[in-house]
Amino acid sequence: MNTPTSHLLDPGFDLTLRPMRYPQFYEMYRDAIRNTWTVEEVDFSLDVNDLKHKLGPAERHLIERLVAFFATGDSIVSNNLVLNLYQHINAPEARMYLSRQLYEEALHVQFYLTLLDTYLPDQNARAKAFDAIENIPSIRAKAAFCFKWIDSLQGLKRIETREQRRQFLLNLICFAACIEGLFFFAAFAYVYYLRSRGLLHGLAAGTNWVFRDESCHMAFAFEVISTARKEEPELFDEELGREVVRMLEEAVECEMQFADDVLSGGVAGLSTRDMRQYLQYCADQRLAQLGMPRHFGSTNPFGFMDLQDVQEVTNFFERRVSAYQVGVQGEVAFDAAF
Ligand SMILES: [Fe+2]
Ligand SMILES: [Fe+2]
Repeated sequence: MNTPTSHLLDPGFDLTLRPMRYPQFYEMYRDAIRNTWTVEEVDFSLDVNDLKHKLGPAERHLIERLVAFFATGDSIVSNNLVLNLYQHINAPEARMYLSRQLYEEALHVQFYLTLLDTYLPDQNARAKAFDAIENIPSIRAKAAFCFKWIDSLQGLKRIETREQRRQFLLNLICFAACIEGLFFFAAFAYVYYLRSRGLLHGLAAGTNWVFRDESCHMAFAFEVISTARKEEPELFDEELGREVVRMLEEAVECEMQFADDVLSGGVAGLSTRDMRQYLQYCADQRLAQLGMPRHFGSTNPFGFMDLQDVQEVTNFFERRVSAYQVGVQGEVAFDAAF
């Protein structure tokens, strides 16, 4: 049972949906339900031909590394969601959103599993891709960065003290800003670069859906953070700001190690310098979303990403708009508190 003075980060498992304390989370849940897609709708048939006949060795290396990252990325996010976030965000309407997000992460895992099965017909190559977090240093480094932040909260059953709540906020910021908002955005940039070269449209079409989902996951996390900030402003001091900048700098370096590897074959039109600038631009965007000053001052060097900054993505090559919504009929609105 919540009281008028209770906070979103107070420990417990509140069950009170009415009166609803945070209708914004419920609305985000409803929006997510309206944006349902399935892996079966993605057509990989053109990609198979591109892989066989159109990709050179440098692009082939890029795509091998990319699918190896995708093989485990969303599973790591799912684990943190269950182990760390669900436990500590204490409002049933927010937990409805997290449940929905967990489903979407499973969908992403299914999407990338299907992608790997399609792209890598050879069993050994497949097994190697799923083992990448053990065997490919640039992917192992990104995973280690994630695990470090998962572990930072693992022992905490209740976040009572100021220090514990800041630990929680840093984990949430890490997963939204650095993992969904930077590691995944970098991966999307490689996909859209290939699409701009006329390659792998099946992957790009599925990526549109994943991109939109990830943008919503970030929006939810940032809303949780700004709610916690309104309720407990003392948690957000200069030290927290400095820690977030340090975390983003580390994430950029981690992703750059991956970029050096991904682009090591020399991919025409995509340099590691541009990639660094893009990552810094993304990091600044995340800081702005957190209400913090920009740190890197970089602009977006990738014209092919411009289109992707809007939530509803239409593409010339696609057969339909990815703002498609599953049939939700009638009005099921009981928004007013009672
Ligand atoms: Fe995901
Ligand atoms: Fe996500």
